[in-house]
Amino acid sequence: MAEIITGKETLVQVLKEADSMPAPREVLMVTPSHFSVEYVINPHMEGNIGTVDKKKARWQWEVIRDKFRMLGLRVHEMEGEPGFPDMVFSANQSLPYIDPDGQKHALMSIMHSEQRKDEVPYFEQWYRQHGYGLHYLDTNGITDFEGMGDAIWHFKKRILWGGYGYRSSRQAYEAVSGTFNVPVALLELVHPAFYHLDTCFCTLNEESVLIYPPAFTQEGLELIHAAFPVVIEAPEKEAQELFACNACCPDGKNVIIQKGCQEVNKALKKNGFAFHEVDTGEFLKSGGSVFCMKLMLW
Ligand code: ARG
Repeated sequence: MAEIITGKETLVQVLKEADSMPAPREVLMVTPSHFSVEYVINPHMEGNIGTVDKKKARWQWEVIRDKFRMLGLRVHEMEGEPGFPDMVFSANQSLPYIDPDGQKHALMSIMHSEQRKDEVPYFEQWYRQHGYGLHYLDTNGITDFEGMGDAIWHFKKRILWGGYGYRSSRQAYEAVSGTFNVPVALLELVHPAFYHLDTCFCTLNEESVLIYPPAFTQEGLELIHAAFPVVIEAPEKEAQELFACNACCPDGKNVIIQKGCQEVNKALKKNGFAFHEVDTGEFLKSGGSVFCMKLMLW
């Protein structure tokens, strides 16, 4: 049954009652063989057409892949496809899920921009080959939904945070919630530079989150504060230029983050997290960093 949460009292109750969910142990990354900036579909891409250094991108990508391995995650690699320069951002084309019986599922995205729509079937094929149950949104009623770019699992709980406003529409979440039978806490995005939830909201563990507050409405911030006793706020420069909130904390302890986020790193350390800096400079030109370059899987 679909359950959409917009009020903090309900959220606190739902969080208390939510079933636990294992932390993901695997990631899927798409090789940057065909990564480049060829069009502008977010403000970060402006002025960057044709500027990607492919060799540097490959090297940066490999360092990130190795960090995930170092943290004990199994990394699946999928070859990038010609004609899809954004396919390397593998968080966007689907939303994976593991049900209480341990069965694996994936809900396929409806990409917002024309240029990215045909990335989705490659992921569909991968899921098919790996034994996932596939689910689809009704394209008659839903215009867009960009997977894990906007829909982020609460760490180890069967609750989903759903961002909407730029790449996913609010209506999509009724269907998302119904498909997986999980409650969805809605967060409206209001700052164009933070066009996906994963650009301004990074779950660290059950109690902690890293956010960029101006990306949210007052109601959204109230929900976040009601759910997380520890809310780390990224300063503007680190959030906007370095994509600090697009970090990834797969295990509730270790945070992989774009290098140079000094204030955020200080706060992470103070709260008991270890940070691992990587250079995602070539990918920042396209409006992406660590979190969107991988899909968390179980
Ligand atoms: N150029 C890509 C786009 O605009 C970047 C996607 C980054 N992904 C993310 N989850 N933030 O679609």
